[in-house]
This record gives sequence, C-alpha cells and structure tokens, in this order.
Amino acid sequence: MSAVSVQTDVLVVGAGAMGSGIAQVAALAGHRVFLADTSAEAVEKGCATIAASLREQVSKGRLDAARAEFTIARIHGIDKLADARTATLAIEAIVERLDVKRALFFELESILPEQAILASNTSSLSITALTAGLSRPERVVGMHFFNPAPRMKLVEVVSGLATDADVADTVFATAVAWGKVAVHVVSSPGFIVNRVARPFYAEAQRVLAERAAKPATLDAAMRDCCGFPMGPFELMDFIGHDVNFAVTRSVFDACFGDRRYEPSLFQQELVAAGRLGRKSGRGVYDYRAGAVPPRPEDESPREGAERVRLHGAEPSLCALADRLGAVAVVERMGGAASRESIEIEGAHLVPCDGRTATRRAAEEDCPNLIVFDLCLDYASTPRLVIAPADQCASAALECVVGTLQRAGLAVSLIDDVAGLIGLRTVAMIINEAAGLVQAGVATAHDVDKAMRYGTNYPRGPLAWADELGVARVVAALDRLNEHYREERYRCAPLLRRKAIGGRKFHE
Ligand code: NAI
Repeated sequence: MSAVSVQTDVLVVGAGAMGSGIAQVAALAGHRVFLADTSAEAVEKGCATIAASLREQVSKGRLDAARAEFTIARIHGIDKLADARTATLAIEAIVERLDVKRALFFELESILPEQAILASNTSSLSITALTAGLSRPERVVGMHFFNPAPRMKLVEVVSGLATDADVADTVFATAVAWGKVAVHVVSSPGFIVNRVARPFYAEAQRVLAERAAKPATLDAAMRDCCGFPMGPFELMDFIGHDVNFAVTRSVFDACFGDRRYEPSLFQQELVAAGRLGRKSGRGVYDYRAGAVPPRPEDESPREGAERVRLHGAEPSLCALADRLGAVAVVERMGGAASRESIEIEGAHLVPCDGRTATRRAAEEDCPNLIVFDLCLDYASTPRLVIAPADQCASAALECVVGTLQRAGLAVSLIDDVAGLIGLRTVAMIINEAAGLVQAGVATAHDVDKAMRYGTNYPRGPLAWADELGVARVVAALDRLNEHYREERYRCAPLLRRKAIGGRKFHE
C-alpha cells in the first residue's frame, strides 16, 4: 500500500501544540497544508511557531534555508473549513472531547471529497466511538503523533472496528514517507504506548507508597541500572501530573476499573495541590529558583572484603564477580550450587527473583541474605540497588556494601520490597506488552517498536523478555502476585504459555 501522493492537500484542524507540529511535518514532506482552528489567534500563533521552528533549524545548520521558506509558504492558515475542500487527508488535533471531535468529523464528511481520509490524533478516545453515526466510518483512522510531533519519531496508526484496512495502510505508509516510524494498533485504551507505559509510573509510586526509597533514589535506579532515559518521577514532573494522572484515569476507566491500572493517591494529592511538575515550579521535585535537586541516597563508603566466593554460573552473578575480581580474590566454587550467589564474609548476595529478601532468607534458612535488583548490563552498571533481609546482620551488610563500592559501584540500599524497583517495573511492562499481543491489539514487533521510538525505552519490552528469559519474568510476576494477592500482578496467559513452552517472542 502506498502513501498519499505529495500532491495531496492535507487539512490539519486544531492549531495548538500538536496540530501545528503535525502541519509542519506534512508541509516539510511536500504537501500543501491548510491549518484551521476555531480561534483565529491560534492559527496565527501556530503558523508563527512553525516558521520560528523551521528558521531555528536553518540557523543550526540542520535545514536548508530555501526548503524552510518553501515549507512555510506551503502552510495556509484558514478561517473556515470549506476553504480546504480539496484536501483528501484531514488530521484533527482539537480538544480531547468525543462530542466535539465527532461533530467535526460530521462537518468534514460534508465538505471534503468522498475518498478523503479522516484521521484523529486523539491519545485516549476510542476510534470506533469517534466513527459512530458517520456515513463513511471506514475512512476514519487514528494517526497518533507524539509531542513534539516534528521531533518524536513514532506514529500509532489506530484502526477502529469500521476502519478499512487500506485506509490504515495508506496512513501507515504516509507516516513513513513523512520520516516517521509507524505501527499498527487496534483501537483499545491507551493504544500501545500509553498502555504499556502505565507500570513505569505505577510501580515506582507503589514502591514509594511502601516507603522503600525516596523518589531521587528510585529515579537514579531506573536510569543508571535499567537504562531508561529518565526516572519515573522526573518524567511525571516533565509530562505534568495533571496530564499523567488523566491518562492513568482514562485507561483505568476505559478498562472498567481493572485494578492493574489503579491511579495513585500520591499523584492525586500532587494534582490537588497544584504541584503539576516543572510547568508549575513544583511537582515531586522543587524547580523554584534556588531549589537544590535532591540526590539519590547512596551508601557512604564502607570497608570491603578481600576475598569473595562465586557459587553457580548465573550470568548477573558472573558479571558482578568479574567486576569484584579487579579488587578482590574471587574463588569460583565448582560443582552444582544449592544457592547461586556471591558469598562475601558469609553473607549471600543474590539476584532478585520477585520475593522479598526477608522471605527468601527464611525459606532458604540463610539469614545473611541480600538481594540485588535488575540491571540492563551488570558489566557496566554504575549503580546497584540492594535490599537486605530483616534477619541480616548489619556487619554482614556493611561488608557487602563496601566490597561492591570497592569495585566502583554506587550502592543504593532500599527497603526490602518485593521485586525491588527495576525487576518489578520491567516485569510489569513486559506483562502489559504480552497482554496487548495476546488481545491482538498489536504484534510483538510493533509493540517493541512503539516503546523504543515512542518512549525511548532501552529495549522493546518483549525483546527484553526474550533476553531476560520469559520464565524468569513469569516467576517474578507470580511471586509478586503471591506477595500482594492482588489481581494487579496477574500474569498474562500468553507470557506463561511462552515460559512453559520455552518459546521467545522474537524467535
Ligand atoms: P491544544 O490545546 O494545544 O490545541 C487544541 C487546539 O484545538 C486549540 O487551539 C483549540 O482552539 C482548537 N480547537 C478546539 N476545539 C476546536 C474545534 N471544534 N475546531 C477547531 N479547533 C478547535 O491541544 P494539543 O495538546 O495540541 O492536543 C490536541 C489533540 O492532540 C488532543 O486530542 C490530544 O489528546 C492529542 N494529543 C496531545 C498530545 C500532547 O502531548 N499534547 C500528544 C498526542 C496527542
């Protein structure tokens, strides 16, 4: 299926943050673009913003000056939709209200040619609901850009129940022709990105609610250990808690109150207090003049051990043992290990499996047990998050901390919460991704692509599952489920099937 030709006139309705960005993208790709808004001022401001943005790119040497001027000249602000009657692709980016968007589509059906595609940039409304009552619902599709549209690569192409497959394919090819990465999605709450990303925020808030660590420590863990570009709290501050809370609520409501998406009281309080994040000067963190950004709580330097023992061949333990080998003698114990661990002066350091350290210490009758969290790459991580069992002697803990520090690791000690922060978050993101694939909302390939390009996650969730071992992810979810006894941590049946069958998402 091919993209709409560059001769196609494109109508963008809504000249706000998203509409002006989309108009810029379409014009830069060579289309004549009509930009409309109920507010003439918004159209004027939108056109001015586009011109300023393109000229800024020229000044930075990223865009040819003549191309920028041609692009600006191709955008026509209009004050009535009838002026765009030649357009065969219309993209709406107006206020996020179903009734207003539907009224617009009714009007567009009567103005635009019969073959015109009507696309919506909605991030939360059902595309199926948008088409109800239209005479040509098969021509309506979601074309979900991300903010800022000129810079963000991803476009989710969303099909409602009535959407013609050819229409979705044309919009997909058009997005690609406009330099974007496109994915197909069946209309469902949050589409791919806003659905799969929910646990990124939710699990951190859950750990915070259990007072296991401060936000700055949790943010540092997700950045430094798991490779996310921003931590969950700083990202919510950046997005705005009002926006983030509204998305969570809308997914929660649209899924009939599924507890997996339950909004957090913590965030509700921030919104109620007007602490919306960067834009209001205060959110989780303080952005007012003179405020000092909080630092993660790293353990102060301790004495380390001269000798450690490696039991077993588990990859994360081997990678950490290699790092410890630069500062200590590592004895690699042969034979089958009853517990795979790094033993430091009688204390056992083990990878988190979803259980609390306290429970595991009791079950394994090993009081001096310390769990460490998931890292993207143990050979290079600058930080390790650990939690000791309640039974662990403080001298044993201090020696483990000191030994890790000698190997150059910053050590974040958090309270003994099940699944720590990285493992539980990544496992839940993977679970969500698997659930979408199972429900036929998107393919595993498109889910991974969407999360890589829409949120800059370090791995696509399902590729991450393959890398970690699907069975390990399932085991962590089952232990979280057992720990909390809440349906929130129930494992997606497809994930379990892959684990039992020993299959990967990307074979
Ligand atoms: P905005 O508030 O910046 O702009 C909306 C514009 O639509 C305003 O200029 C308003 O005057 C105009 N408008 C309202 N009703 C209209 C109507 N009936 N006809 C013509 N113009 C009308 O909003 P923003 O952020 O650009 O969002 C627009 C759409 O894009 C929403 O559906 C939103 O959910 C979606 N979206 C927003 C993202 C974001 O991060 N801001 C990201 C992805 C999608």
